[in-house]
Amino acid sequence: MISTIPPHSVELVEVAPRDGFQSISDPLPTQAKVEAIQALIDAGIKRIEIGSFVSPKAVPQMADIKDIVSAFINQQGVRLSALIPNLKGAELALASGLRELVYVVSVSETHNKKNVRQSVDASLEGLAHIADRVRDEGPKARLRLDLGTCFDCPYEGRIDAQRVVEVLRKALAVTEGLQLEVAFCDTTGRANPYQVRETLKIVQQVIGYDTIDWAFHGHNTFGAGVANALFAIEQGVTVLDASCAGLGGCPFAPGATGNTATEDLVFALQEGGIETGIDMMRLLHAADLIAALPGGLTASSLRQVPRTRAATR
Ligand code: COA
Ligand code: ZN
Repeated sequence: MISTIPPHSVELVEVAPRDGFQSISDPLPTQAKVEAIQALIDAGIKRIEIGSFVSPKAVPQMADIKDIVSAFINQQGVRLSALIPNLKGAELALASGLRELVYVVSVSETHNKKNVRQSVDASLEGLAHIADRVRDEGPKARLRLDLGTCFDCPYEGRIDAQRVVEVLRKALAVTEGLQLEVAFCDTTGRANPYQVRETLKIVQQVIGYDTIDWAFHGHNTFGAGVANALFAIEQGVTVLDASCAGLGGCPFAPGATGNTATEDLVFALQEGGIETGIDMMRLLHAADLIAALPGGLTASSLRQVPRTRAATR
């Protein structure tokens, strides 16, 4: 059952250090990444996807992930997670001290192959092994599933909600016993708010609301990022991904721009009375640091308005 809609508060997951940094082809100095992440924590960010344990050949920007994690692993009051594409990534992430793993499977066959070089079924088999590993790790370990291309695929076009149901059902079958957070990802940013609502509604009708924790991961390619996130929370989502300064663009989803900017989302939520625990001025300072990183593409409405007007009431 869905308790309070809209909720009094939502959890934000800052994904600039993963989805954002991975879009910059030339590796950034580790120290610059550490300073940007620290600025995000200083702004009140409580959950961060800090990077990914992936092949450094596939994403050279993530080659220093171990050093980034070790800079923050002892920080109190902030939950750190990392994206992993396989069991090797899971082992490396756990060895680095992280206890939250984000496993990615695209519901579109073509995108999954381009992204992680295997079929959706092979990725789901991988999920079964990772779920075993997380169970072995004990109750402190958490697993999140990023379901990519839930609304649109750059190769296959619009995605039918039934396909999302089909892949999610298989994923739930192999993760039994774990409380799974599932992020419904608009990888290309082409979803519209009504499609987000409809897809989530259909999935909820089939799998029930209490089966998983609901998250939404949106991009702002077509300008609907904030609206999509708001429709998602009206449909019971309580965890929203965003990228400070709107940094991003997936190297495996041609044409997709950055995630919805954290500051734009925070503005809409806080002005609407939904708590995020973020200090807007500090967040904008973090956004300025991120926007100054060489090679990144950013897009943020809040950074364009005078700072005195950007303060949330
Ligand atoms: N972390 C670090 N290295 C890894 C790794 C991981 N999780 N998984 C594989 N590797 C290494 C292997 O050890 C191997 O190294 P070697 O060439 O020195 O022996 C190399 O990467 C290739 O491994 P292989 O298993 O053959 O994988 P692949 O070439 O088929 O690539 C992935 C598959 C999934 C590992 C790769 O495509 C990848 O990391 N993709 C990341 C995609 C991503 O981040 N997308 C954006 C997020 S949605
Ligand atoms: Zn993304």
